[in-house]
Amino acid sequence: MTAYCPTDLPAADSQLLPPDAVIAIDGPAGSGKSTTARALADHFGLLYIDTGAMYRALTWAALDQGVDPADEDGLAALLRPAELALRPAKGEVTVLWNGHDVSRAIRTPEVESLVSQVASHAGVRQEMVRRQQALGRQGGVVMEGRDIGSAVFPLATAKIFLSASLEARVDRRCRQYRQRGREVSREELTRDLAQRDRQDSERDTSPLGISPDAIVVDSSNLSLEQQNETCVRACLVNPLLDQDLDTDLVVAKREIPMHYRLAYRVFKGLARFYGLQTVGNEGGALARGCIVAVNHISMWDPPLVGATFNRHPVHTLANAELFRIWPVGPIFRWIDSIPIRRKGYDANAFDEAKRALDKGHNLLIFPEGTRRAIGHPGPVRSGLGIVVQATRAPVLPVFIRGSYGKQPGGSLLSPLEVSFGPMLRWHGLDALLETASPREVSGVIGRLCEAAFRELQARSFDRYPQTDFERELGEIQLKRFAARHRKVFGAKT
Ligand code: DC
Repeated sequence: MTAYCPTDLPAADSQLLPPDAVIAIDGPAGSGKSTTARALADHFGLLYIDTGAMYRALTWAALDQGVDPADEDGLAALLRPAELALRPAKGEVTVLWNGHDVSRAIRTPEVESLVSQVASHAGVRQEMVRRQQALGRQGGVVMEGRDIGSAVFPLATAKIFLSASLEARVDRRCRQYRQRGREVSREELTRDLAQRDRQDSERDTSPLGISPDAIVVDSSNLSLEQQNETCVRACLVNPLLDQDLDTDLVVAKREIPMHYRLAYRVFKGLARFYGLQTVGNEGGALARGCIVAVNHISMWDPPLVGATFNRHPVHTLANAELFRIWPVGPIFRWIDSIPIRRKGYDANAFDEAKRALDKGHNLLIFPEGTRRAIGHPGPVRSGLGIVVQATRAPVLPVFIRGSYGKQPGGSLLSPLEVSFGPMLRWHGLDALLETASPREVSGVIGRLCEAAFRELQARSFDRYPQTDFERELGEIQLKRFAARHRKVFGAKT
């Protein structure tokens, strides 16, 4: 397994985490997530949230109320009205189910043997993820579980995948039980853990797996201190890399071609006229050689997004058919757009994109492949994953809202907004490729980008709630676009 070793990481004493940081720790049972998550919470002054305890509490309640762990609807009905609280108390976390302290009861082998099954149901996970996002959306948390980096917080400040060999994990669990005065057989524990690994990683909804942007730490041969220190340093990698963007900007300004500056002025004027708000990238900085992945809802998306940054040459992947139309084709070529065929694998387009990124230029992609209904981003097609695997270029997820509005001065029907997510960097890609095929990895990258779009949309709705116009138009478009999409891409998507 490819893992970061401590010497690759920044010094642990730097205090670079923003106060609204979210640290996501995922990994298999017994890999030491809880201990390390607590240590990180202490170190950075963040709140610790153990999402496994939430699934355990539901399992305990199911046993208590006689609900079958295979009964998805029964479990969802049990969870929906329940009050489930995690309260930090004296270095420990008290777990309350409807006000009843279940902190000890959820750690028994009976709960342990059924919890993976309970956690495998889509209906249960949907409600749990909603609650976890509500707990952490303001930031300032360390959250540990199985799907935090991939589904709960796709835009986390730092993601760590903590792994350890089955043997090392069994040793640790044996010790934990012994400390609690319980003797459990090694063979039984090995069987149990191996089965939970299987259940957690083979379930259909958000299976356990390495998020390609997570830093992978293999703790099999690390002492607890080494494990904690490695993870503290891993938390600082992305914030440190983000700081480098400022220096990048100074170099880039000199290189910017004349016609880009002209186009930028025009786009900027247009954007101001329509009241465009930029969120998360007000200075217009853009890292060299990154892919800008934007959701697509209107023909106006490219110029509106273009108005939000003014730095490097930006190449846009655009439908090859448009290049045949005069004067669209020559104009697209002039602004360095790259034609891409909609169907099949277009090797020429991917080669040209790779050459541009290698030169330090940026690549603008609409990874959904076509326009989508407003309020319903995704699914992302495999092209993004193919480019990422070929170039390892980081991806900046960007969410556009309101570009279909027509009112000058800002649409009254919906706000016009372009919001930037934090950069997704592919620290865990090699480790993931050891366990999954390139095609599967493209799928994982696509789902991560989709989750990023949904999170940026949720944040936008927090700032300015979805309007009735947006909701109604979205419903109409959903039906219309689904029919058109089937015609263009075939029945599968
Ligand atoms: O981390 P733990 O052993 O307390 O987790 C208990 C179970 O809950 C584990 O088998 C998988 C499941 N789980 C999950 O599916 N998703 C999470 N975010 C956390 C836990």
